[in-house]
Amino acid sequence: MRSLIDILDFSVEELDALMDTAADIIADPARYAEACKGKKLATLFFEPSTRTRLSFEAAMLELGGSVIGFSEASSSSAAKGESVADTAKVISCYADIIAMRHPKEGAPYVASRNADVPVINAGDGGHSHPTQTLADLFTIRREKGRVSGLTVGFCGDLKYGRTVHSLITALSRYEDVRLVLISPEELKVPSYVRYEVIEKNGMTYTETTNLEAALPELDILYMTRVQGERFANREDYLRLRDSYILTLEKLAGSKPDLAILHPLPRVNEISVQIDKDPRACYFKQVANGKYMRMALILKLLEEAVNNPVLEEPDDGLPRIYNQLTCKNRRCITTVEQELDQIFKVLNAEHGICRCLYCEAKEKL
Ligand code: CP
Repeated sequence: MRSLIDILDFSVEELDALMDTAADIIADPARYAEACKGKKLATLFFEPSTRTRLSFEAAMLELGGSVIGFSEASSSSAAKGESVADTAKVISCYADIIAMRHPKEGAPYVASRNADVPVINAGDGGHSHPTQTLADLFTIRREKGRVSGLTVGFCGDLKYGRTVHSLITALSRYEDVRLVLISPEELKVPSYVRYEVIEKNGMTYTETTNLEAALPELDILYMTRVQGERFANREDYLRLRDSYILTLEKLAGSKPDLAILHPLPRVNEISVQIDKDPRACYFKQVANGKYMRMALILKLLEEAVNNPVLEEPDDGLPRIYNQLTCKNRRCITTVEQELDQIFKVLNAEHGICRCLYCEAKEKL
């Protein structure tokens, strides 16, 4: 049985096939109107959401299925101390597929190991957000006709912005994508993205703090919000939150066919004056997300019928159990202490390991 926990769970060919299905749904929605008749989606949202939860729900309804779920942890038995693993086992008795958002990194992975139905990661802490990446890739392909061969600027909170981590990971598998990483010093991409995604895959990249200087070379500008909810210190958030505000004046030097993306919600990063500019693609991106989630639900439900047995994705790296403790305060293992501490060994000679749940680095 397949789940979608990390964007690397799908090959480039599978991502392209999902985009083809999404395009087909747009062209002929009636053909899909009963594709999930009799099926139920459970949306388990332990953290706020507008787009992801409601687009999943709209997606399932437009496929003829139905939806159950909750939109905050306080209205579920998590508030009484129920674990993610038990929650996943329970919901498997009610639903055919689960979409889960959780503030703790690795929680959807834990759910996928314990559910009897496919689990979709709808965002885990500052870690990853693979279905936003589906929306982003489809938007890039629709706007540019391709994903390869583009210069993509990421601007804002590249440290905690989980959509950034997932999209860079996805882009690392396309040909000749150049990255321009625009952020304050404190909000640069985390080390696992820098070393194990960008550098390991030989991607060309530059880093800068200057958005206006970077703009003229970009085909895509991916703006992000500074993620106040992930900061340990509120003063740091207040100091950094308005680091970048995109205005029409600042866009003067950009390419006329620049595509501006933003996973939303927007706080203050893009002036509303830009919304009517043809370069603004962020509301199209929202619509594209629903069609990609429809394609994803169809794929995972079909695969669950053909292959109902749980499979652990094999990355070829050895695992060690309960020899290290993850120190990332946002990791699911910090609150669910019965979980095994599982680490992937990246470099046995130097003892470099990464937590299987949240990818934080530890040394043996
Ligand atoms: N882009 C995104 O994840 O939005 P929500 O937080 O509203 O779901």
